Amino acid sequence: MKKILFVASECVPFIKTGGLADVVGALPKYCNKEEFDIRVIIPNYQCIPQKYKEQMKYKTHFYMNLAWRTQYVGILETEYDGIKFYFVDNEFYFAGAKPYGEIYQDIEKFAFFSKAVLSALPTIDFRPDIIHCHDWQTGLIPVMIHDAFQNNQFYRGIKTIMTIHNLKFQGIWDKKTIMDITGLPPYYFTPDKLEAYGDANYLKGGIVYADMVTTVSNTYADEIKTPFYGEGLDGLMNAKSGRLRGIVNGLDYNEWNPETDKYIYQNYNQINFRKEKVKNKVALQKELGLRVDEKVFTIGIVSRLTDQKGLDLVDYVIEEICAPDTQFIVLGTGDPKYENLFRHFEWKYKDRVSANIYYNNERSHKIYAACDAYLMPSLFEPCGLSQLMSLRYGTVPIVRETGGLKDTVEPYNEYENTGTGFSFRNYNAHEMLNAIRYAKDVYYNRKREWNKIVDRGMKRDFSWCNSAGQYENLYRQM
Ligand code: ADP
Ligand code: GLC
Repeated sequence: MKKILFVASECVPFIKTGGLADVVGALPKYCNKEEFDIRVIIPNYQCIPQKYKEQMKYKTHFYMNLAWRTQYVGILETEYDGIKFYFVDNEFYFAGAKPYGEIYQDIEKFAFFSKAVLSALPTIDFRPDIIHCHDWQTGLIPVMIHDAFQNNQFYRGIKTIMTIHNLKFQGIWDKKTIMDITGLPPYYFTPDKLEAYGDANYLKGGIVYADMVTTVSNTYADEIKTPFYGEGLDGLMNAKSGRLRGIVNGLDYNEWNPETDKYIYQNYNQINFRKEKVKNKVALQKELGLRVDEKVFTIGIVSRLTDQKGLDLVDYVIEEICAPDTQFIVLGTGDPKYENLFRHFEWKYKDRVSANIYYNNERSHKIYAACDAYLMPSLFEPCGLSQLMSLRYGTVPIVRETGGLKDTVEPYNEYENTGTGFSFRNYNAHEMLNAIRYAKDVYYNRKREWNKIVDRGMKRDFSWCNSAGQYENLYRQM
């Protein structure tokens, strides 16, 4: 049996700020348990809900050197949905109301976490064959395995995978501080290793030292080899292209199932959505204080409110989006300029705009179920899970053709009767607006066609079944 350890900074159901948590929580469940023993390790953040904390059991603790510091490392464990989870405990590093804080704090937090994970392995009776690292927070792991840990018999031969969920975030700080924090020798701080443009870069270290590098869609795997999407590392991505693979994310079809979802007002499926889905719209309109109208075209957004998500396009034409024949429901937090934009338009058009500026999983389910269309005009999108959720809930995605959005949403073709959504190519507000208006026209004037788009979208299979198989192949090859 192959042993694999997932190392990540977030994981459903314990802690989530974005799609990373969905992936880390779901993928281990969908790999073949006869062949792979996959376990997951994340920080024991103070902000993990109490109901999960109560289930954690003490495993062990020890003191660890992190350069000149000596730090406490506690290891807790629990089992959830058939998967074993470990938590690295340290009240100093993992305090606070959110998993991430100021970057200079996070830089030290995740250096500690990475080293603690590796140091804990001999104490938990689990020597992985492969360590599967996710995003910059775990980028130091392949580097540390290469360094001090390579002289230790226990670690010799452990393979590493670095999965890039978002190349935008790299974990960058000045070399001197990183040397001081990590205790890694100057040898590692050159441009062919951790250094990038004069600073130290965790993700780069991970990419350089990992045995395999993956990212979360095929299109993004290609895009990051270009300067526009490469975030300064396109040269490196080209150099590593032989070890770089795109595997599109799946969705946890048990968690996200309109037929059984306990958060939504009215369950429905592929067969009865024409009659039943709209009950979710009416109920949500009442709950949010919008004008109750089962016919009105309703657009949803559930998202981190950042530039990545294409919200400056929305900003540019928001008057036109919030037309009298449309309702617009937003759930998200992030950049204050976008939070305030949506708050302002809710104030301006109370009967048809709803701005929910907070994080709420239950409400996100209600929005996916209630809306007719889902807007995701991202500037870049490594994969994107929201569009997969909306497809599953019969909510037609309107997306920009980039990254995983391009790989998962097939544009509607009215001549061939194909497609599952609406899309536009250029990063241009009026192209987006045209796509929205086209969608609205089909919704109002060709409802049968609209329902066929919904039907095709709901039939698509973006469960983990397919993508988990691709990860399994990768694990087997290594
Ligand atoms: P990213 O990981 O870049 O944020 P994804 O589309 O991959 O984008 O995943 C985002 C996930 O986070 C989805 O599951 C989405 O529903 C969820 N999400 C984002 N913002 C909120 C929010 N304010 N409340 C609840 N869920 C949210
Ligand atoms: C990142 C990306 C998103 C992707 C998610 C999970 O947060 O922004 O596109 O779906 O990771 O892989």
